[in-house]
Amino acid sequence: MQPIKGFSKLSKEGKIEWIATQFFKDPEAAYHTLSSYWHADSAVQKQHDEFIENTLTNFYMPYGVSPNYLINGRLYAIPMVIEESSVVAAASKSAAFWLSRGGFKTTVLSTKKIGQVHFIWHGDGDKLRAFMPELEAKLIQGTAALTANMRQRGGGITGISLRDKTLDEAGYYQLHATFETMDAMGANFINSNLEEFARILRQELATDARFTAEERDVTIVMCILSNYTPECLVRCEVSCPVEQLADGDDYTNEEFIEKFTRAIRIATLEPYRATTHNKGIMNGIDAVVLATGNDFRAVEACAHTYAARDGQYRSLTRVDVNNGIFRFWLDIPLALGTVGGLTGLHPMVKFSHELLGNPNAEELMQITAAVGLAQNFAAVKSLVTTGIQKGHMKMHLLNILNQYLATDDEKERAKVYFSDKVISHQSVGEYLSKLRNPNPTAVTPKPGAAGL
Ligand code: MEV
Repeated sequence: MQPIKGFSKLSKEGKIEWIATQFFKDPEAAYHTLSSYWHADSAVQKQHDEFIENTLTNFYMPYGVSPNYLINGRLYAIPMVIEESSVVAAASKSAAFWLSRGGFKTTVLSTKKIGQVHFIWHGDGDKLRAFMPELEAKLIQGTAALTANMRQRGGGITGISLRDKTLDEAGYYQLHATFETMDAMGANFINSNLEEFARILRQELATDARFTAEERDVTIVMCILSNYTPECLVRCEVSCPVEQLADGDDYTNEEFIEKFTRAIRIATLEPYRATTHNKGIMNGIDAVVLATGNDFRAVEACAHTYAARDGQYRSLTRVDVNNGIFRFWLDIPLALGTVGGLTGLHPMVKFSHELLGNPNAEELMQITAAVGLAQNFAAVKSLVTTGIQKGHMKMHLLNILNQYLATDDEKERAKVYFSDKVISHQSVGEYLSKLRNPNPTAVTPKPGAAGL
């Protein structure tokens, strides 16, 4: 096979033809698979095609809902897009648990976004520092047209400072700017302003007689927002009297608290565990971020940097038991938007926002954090009591049965049979084998094998 030139310029049919004939044994079957996922309405399909380059089809992910979230006294049913079988079930169980214990209390602690112009300048640093107040005023003035709409909505540029990084890298400075972007995630707003800052910086240095010939020269390395937004922070917490924790389970409140708090301590001091612990939180967070059309890569990158903010990667959740009250909380930076991006375009994203009562960005931060906390509570509760596999494999049973092409009747029987047994690919295969052919010499079916 040869590399292809101008792939993006081919029509959709042309792209599919090239892919199907170059990479598939059965090009017709490949074409059929791709086209079977096209939307029936060609206008909707066109809209999806235009989200990115080289779209061939759509990629389905389950869109589920987790109901019964009481957040600051208001009930929500929260949309979640995720492929992992047990996540929505766990989130919903946790939401129901906390519903009868006062629900989730959330507070947005701050909403600051950050962007930086990275530049190299070799000159007298004191002169540059002295020039900063004047430059800042020029940067604000020079971006007035760009920021006009945002200022009208209550946002804009909230500060610009000079950061001297010359001890780390010769001549390296930053213009470190902070922004309030209201209900927008704000990436385009921030990046446009930063590029304008760079232009103004270059122009001011080049034309100011206070600077020497060498100082009039600046190398702009890059202008880009930072996805690390430790001050775009939300706190979500749950609490209840200690005696309400065990709730008829076969362990005492004290046993539960001892194991639960130890699990959180372990996730705080041990990075291997902290990573998995925080992954569980992100199971919930990412699912809501995706369903609401936000940038889950940005949210992920930021959450993990925040988890390592003191130099060691740690749990994002904390727990405290004081005066008979169990308190469990999550602090997480979430730079989310409810306007711009996909929010006004993708039909399912619009659906999610309406389902949530068209929240503003701060409300969406709070809703999302609640699902992260719920998810972590459910995971750690299972881990320190029944173990994770019981619930996980119960939900996964259907996936295994589908791999064996089980019929609806076989699925129903398997659910009953495995309600008190260990579930694995092997045990399900053996069970189906017996069900389909009671003859003891029959061979265990392989995944993908239909009923005998
Ligand atoms: C699985 O997707 C997530 C868990 O591993 C999280 C955890 O261990 O806390 C169950």
